[in-house]
Amino acid sequence: SNPGSAFPGPKTDGFSKSGFILAAIGSSVGLGNMWKFPYITGKYGGAAFFLLFIICLIVVGLPILLAEMAIGRGGRGNAASSLFNITGKKQWKWVGAISVVTSFLIMSYYGVVAGWTLHYTVGSFSGALNKPGTDYSATFTAFAGGYMPLFWQAVVMLITGVIIAKGISGGIEKFNKVLIPGFLIILVILMIRALTLPGAAAGVEFFLAPDFSKLSAASALTALGHAFFSLSLGMGCMLTYGSYVQKDQSLGKATLAIGAGDLIYAFIAGMIIFPTIFSYGMKPEAGVGLAFMALPAAFAQMPFGFLFGGLFFLLLAIAALTSCVSILEVPVAYAMGEWKWSRKKAAVIVSVASFIIGVPAALSVGGVLSFITFADKSIFDLFDFVTSYILMPVGGLIVTIFTGYAWKRAGDEVGLSGWWYRIWMFLIRYIAPILIILIFLYSVGLLNL
Ligand code: PHE
Repeated sequence: SNPGSAFPGPKTDGFSKSGFILAAIGSSVGLGNMWKFPYITGKYGGAAFFLLFIICLIVVGLPILLAEMAIGRGGRGNAASSLFNITGKKQWKWVGAISVVTSFLIMSYYGVVAGWTLHYTVGSFSGALNKPGTDYSATFTAFAGGYMPLFWQAVVMLITGVIIAKGISGGIEKFNKVLIPGFLIILVILMIRALTLPGAAAGVEFFLAPDFSKLSAASALTALGHAFFSLSLGMGCMLTYGSYVQKDQSLGKATLAIGAGDLIYAFIAGMIIFPTIFSYGMKPEAGVGLAFMALPAAFAQMPFGFLFGGLFFLLLAIAALTSCVSILEVPVAYAMGEWKWSRKKAAVIVSVASFIIGVPAALSVGGVLSFITFADKSIFDLFDFVTSYILMPVGGLIVTIFTGYAWKRAGDEVGLSGWWYRIWMFLIRYIAPILIILIFLYSVGLLNL
């Protein structure tokens, strides 16, 4: 009756079962696991916070992850059309299209940081960024404030664009199948190195010693917000990947595997970062300061530091690139579906556009555009803030409302039955939306805790 809502049918290109799991882990494991998770864990109560994070992951993150993948597979479209295909209602297409905007904005600053990791990988292996006695804070400030980051950002967009242009099975799946297992090997090597450094125990203690007195509403909401970012939720990414999943793959099992993968990588990252930092007498910091200032200074003093430092930044680069690919696939799938562009054309135009949108972000970290601020936030920080704390929670809320209230046959697609289905539906209908609204109000400063 409604030709626009006709199901496009099975796609010709898609993931194998293991390829999907690896690609989804590649998406979720990213810069968030490597520098944000360990730091907030240390700050908000160590093992006590870790426990809280696991609870948030189980109660909110995994149910939404499952819902997103199911929407993609059930609707067989892109982040916007899948919602329309399922309900036949045009409004849902517009609601879904918000995620396409979100993905562009995330890509613009995430690609900049991914570029920095490439610069530090090359610099560490070559020794240029691995000289004892250097002031690595000044080194980073000079680098980020110049024009070099634009070059590296362009390299990131080029790599991402080429992989996406090759398609799902021949591009995204292959890329992740090689990189994600390789990633685990490097991670374990670095963890052994870090844990055998003198004084490593102090770092492990900072990371994991449980301190229940630090748990508060603020730490709970931080845990929840991070569960979102870390699982790549609320921006159409898992939905788009889900549209390439085979009908007989178990989405429930995939959800558990992705959640476990995300958690394991975050845990090992903490077991590398803190022992290294503490062993060389440095203070743990957040984000940029931790990865690009404190760690290079520590690696510069370590025997064979160029090698370990190089491997560490290579790890960050891989984590970032496998996430970049998943972010950019959202607008690429949208352009292919809505405007009938070929995959190659979409990949080229979307990567160039992301590069252009990212230029102001790249030049605002101490560079020529750092004078532009919005409520004390640089353009870079603004993109991060708006996406992580406003657009992604809104996207997540949309997924819960769509799945819980608009999609009558969600249960058939997720493949849960009996009590599992009831518990999942309860979380999606009531618990997840309420908690998301709380994080949202808290992050925009309307809720004081
Ligand atoms: N999950 C990624 C990380 O932890 C970030 C990301 C967000 C990736 C959204 C894809 C989509 O770094």
